[in-house]
Parts: sequence; C-alpha cells; structure tokens
Amino acid sequence: MKRRLLLINSSLSFLPLFLLLLLGLLTASHALPLSTSSRWIVDEEGHRVKLACVNWASHLELVVAEGLGHQPVDVISKKIKDLGFNCVRLTWPLYLATNESLACLTVRESFVNAGLSDSISGLQANNPSIVDLSLINTFQAVVASLTNNKVMVILDNHISTPGWCCSKYDGNGFFGDQYFNPDLWINGLTKMATLFKDNPFVIGMSLRNELRGPKQNVNDWYRCMQRGAEAVHGANPNVLVILSGLSYDKDFSFLRKQPISLSFTGKLVFEAHWYAFSDGEAWKNGNSNQVCGKLVNNIMGMSGFLLDQGFPLFVSEWGVDLRGTNTNDNRYLNCFLAWIAEHDLDWALWTLAGNYYLREGVVGMVEYYGLLNSDWTQVRNTSFLERISVIQSPLQGPGMSQRTEHNIIYHPSTGLCVVKKPMTPMGVQLGNCAESNRWTYTPSQTLTIKGSYLCLHAQGMNLPARLSLYCPGVGTRWTPISDSKLHLSASLSRRVTVCLDVDSDNNLITTTCKCLSNDNKCDPGSQWFKIVEVADTITTSLQQIEPEVI
Ligand SMILES: *[C@@H]1O[C@H](CO)[C@@H](O)[C@H](O)[C@H]1NC(C)=O
Ligand SMILES: *[C@@H]1O[C@H](CO)[C@@H](O)[C@H](O)[C@H]1NC(C)=O
Repeated sequence: MKRRLLLINSSLSFLPLFLLLLLGLLTASHALPLSTSSRWIVDEEGHRVKLACVNWASHLELVVAEGLGHQPVDVISKKIKDLGFNCVRLTWPLYLATNESLACLTVRESFVNAGLSDSISGLQANNPSIVDLSLINTFQAVVASLTNNKVMVILDNHISTPGWCCSKYDGNGFFGDQYFNPDLWINGLTKMATLFKDNPFVIGMSLRNELRGPKQNVNDWYRCMQRGAEAVHGANPNVLVILSGLSYDKDFSFLRKQPISLSFTGKLVFEAHWYAFSDGEAWKNGNSNQVCGKLVNNIMGMSGFLLDQGFPLFVSEWGVDLRGTNTNDNRYLNCFLAWIAEHDLDWALWTLAGNYYLREGVVGMVEYYGLLNSDWTQVRNTSFLERISVIQSPLQGPGMSQRTEHNIIYHPSTGLCVVKKPMTPMGVQLGNCAESNRWTYTPSQTLTIKGSYLCLHAQGMNLPARLSLYCPGVGTRWTPISDSKLHLSASLSRRVTVCLDVDSDNNLITTTCKCLSNDNKCDPGSQWFKIVEVADTITTSLQQIEPEVI
C-alpha cells in the first residue's frame, strides 16, 4: 500500500505570506517506500529524501527503549521530530526476535530480573500502558509511536545478546562467534522484517551493527550479508537493506574489487561509523589540519568511494561529548560536519538517550553523547542542535533544482554560513544557512554573491572581511589551503596572506592563517569554512522534512 508523504517547510517562517503560499504549491509530495537512485535515497517519484536520524537504543540488558521511565513514549517521539530529525535508528538485540522466553517477558519482569524494581515506578507513571507489555510488544509500541508521529524508522540489529555493544571479544562481533549464529540471525531478521512489513514508515533495516573481531573475514561477509539481504528483502521488499562494513563499520574497501551480488536492485545502502575515538586520541595529539586531511582521505578510501560506485552511504553513527569538554571530540566535530555537508550524506546521530536504565552494570548511567539530558526533558546542548541544523536538511540531489552551480559558505564550528549583512552596504557576517545568499565560486577562485556583482574581499590583516565591486582586485581570490583544505586564504601582497576567520561576535575578519601544520596545541576551528554545493532555490532546498500522511 502506498502512502503519500508531504514535505513541509516549517523552517521558512521568515518568508512573506505570499511566498509561503507559493511554496505550498511547489511542495513536493513524497510517496513511500523509499529506494535508491545512484547515491541518493529517493521516494517513489525519484525525489530525494534525506535521512537525518538519531539512534534510539533498545538493545541493552533490559531490552526496553531507553527513557520510558522519564517521559511518555509519545512525548519522546514528538520531541525527536520537533528537534528536526525525520528518522530513528532503533536498535534491537537479535534474541528479542529469536528467544521467545525473552520476547515474552514483561517490562516489569525484565526490570525485576535485573534487580531494578526500584526503577519501575517511573515507567509506571510515564508509560502505564507499556509497563506490563511484553518486550516485543513494547518494541512494537515504540515503533508505533514513532510512526504515528511520522518519524521514519530503521530497525538496527545491534547485537545478539542484550547489553552494551561493542567489543572485539564479546562473542557478538562476527558470524560464527559464540552468540552470532548466521542461521539464527537470518531467522531473526526475517521475523523482524515480517513483523513490520505493513508499516510503511519502517523504511529500512540495518542488518548488523559493527562487524568486528578476530573472526572477521571478507568471504563470510559476502556469503552471510548476501543471505541476510535476500532474507530481509524477501520478507519485506519495501525496506532499504542497509549493510555494515568490517572493523566496526569502517571498512568497505573490499567492495572495490568485488561488488556484492544480489537478486534485487534499488534498495541497497551501506552504513559507516565515524567517531573521534575511532582513531584513538589522534585529534587531541595531532595537528587538526593534518588529522582532518588524513582521516577524510582514509574514510573516502574505506567507504566514501561507494558514493562514486552509485550507492548511498548512511553514516549511521557519529557523535560527540555534548558538554564540549573533550578536545578530541571537539576538533573532530568541525572536520566531520564539513565532510557531511560537502557530500550531503544521510546520517544518524549517536544518540538520543540522556541516560540508560542499566549499562555495563551501572544503574542510570548518564550518556554525555545523548541529545537529551538525564531527565529526558531538555536538550543537553542547544548550540549543538543549531550547529547540525544545516546537515538536517537536504542540500542537493534528485528533484531539487540544480540548473547552475550554487554554494553556501559553511562554518562548521558555529553551524552558520557567510551572509550579506543587512543594512550595511558592503558588510558580511555569519548567519542562518537556510537564509544564506548563494555564492558562485569561479574558476579564478572569486566568491561572488549570486545575482550580484559583489564578491568577498579581504581588506587587510585583522580587518573585517567585506564585499567588493572590484572583483579581480587584490584580496578577492580565495584559495582553500592546509591539509584539511578548510582554510580560505587570500593573498594581499607577495608577503602577506590572510585567512577568513570570525571574531567572538561572529563578524567575519581576516587574520593570520592558523595551525597550518605540526602544531598540535592550537585549534584552527574558527578559520574552517567549507564551500558547499547546494540546489538553486530555497523552495526546494534546505527544507525540514516532515512526512505527513494525507
Ligand atoms: C532466552 O531468554 C531467557 C530470558 O531472558 C534466558 O533466561 C535464556 O537464557 C535465553 N536463552 C538463550 C538460548 O539465550
Ligand atoms: C555545548 O557545547 C559547546 C561546545 O560545542 C560548549 O562550549 C558549551 O559549553 C556546551 N553547553 C553545555 C550546556 O554543555
């Protein structure tokens, strides 16, 4: 059965009413199910649908979606949508589908068995209709709540045995490990796919999270992943089939030589994970430009090349300590956001949870990577949400008008873009990317505001950057430099080169180019900008997707 989905531009309230009415007419209607068209995920009409998801864990010891002791499930689902996410990657342990005595435990029993009877009162108060449901029915209730709120769902088989994931030696890492029997896995995937096959909002299944460990090998990857993909597709041909790589979802390099062979097309998506700690403390110990340049290069070689092979790449886990106190994470985040924006990738943030009922033996463990705070009422860090709002929107892709080249100049450390300053004739500042001017980046490296003769101009060291009408002039040629290629430099004379920067009030200035190499103490973040290609018009780009059934 086909359902119609609507794109609604809730973020465009700044537009005059008549334009909004016009937008209403231009609004694309999106029909599920989703499929793939080269590297893009698209609706039935072939229009791009960008996945901007958050992970919601339901695979830990208790096998209950986190947070239900703090807020009613519908409040959480609605909040996810209100925060600009259109999708949830909902995790489940394999045994929920294959072990009936586990699936049939009630939430209450699961808490009692874990010695957490004291924690039940919160669940009783916030979700009285769930507390005596079985674990599998609870999982269904969470999916139902998300889909009632028009949040798309990706079912992610995270692990076999309920519990925190993932270590190399936890017996859950690869086919043939103690708890990872391929036949049982196929069986569980088939059951889960079947259980949700009539819900069009369940748009994808992640077949297995973070393959890893001593047993991992390429031959079994092809053999088992092909079987798993066929089983899921057979049970529910509507869902996107999402496959992990080796080594904690980092490595797909083997696909360069040998493509995967499946009986179906148009449904295959690959998922990759990238955290700061994927590379230990590289960010903290190294020079940010060098580390960013090197790691982006690595990831393009390990998974990003799949885009060129014509597959969507879903970055299904990434995230940072949202207190902003982890240097390793902070440096990574600027580089990561620039990379995601550049390729306009689909993604899922780790994670929603402000805390866990029980994680690795700790009751109520706080999750500082969690979008919500530990009572699940507020966003942990609102400035983080502002920073990611650009990547929540589709910037380019099928169905979005792209007659000529348009760019925004994205500043990942604020999440803002370079815009013309209102009321100040030649002024520029950082502003909202959705309302941002579009820029042309010419072969001679001039940045010109679309529809004008005005170009970005460096006036001098430590002076405000301005617009100029004299565009071949000194200080109007902007070259990406450093290993990260994220500095925009302009040369003012044979001896003086400056970099675009922002001051503490978000005014654009030009300063000495920072941390170009070797120095690992300094952070070049304020000088990092990415020229990002976007579609022509605001009517079809930078929307917040809100699927609506009509
Ligand atoms: C099935 O689940 C029950 C309840 O959690 C557990 O006691 C049992 O060990 C599980 N069986 C297997 C084979 O994992
Ligand atoms: C949010 O993150 C920023 C760094 O990105 C940090 O400076 C700020 O203190 C954080 N706010 C809270 C409330 O943790």
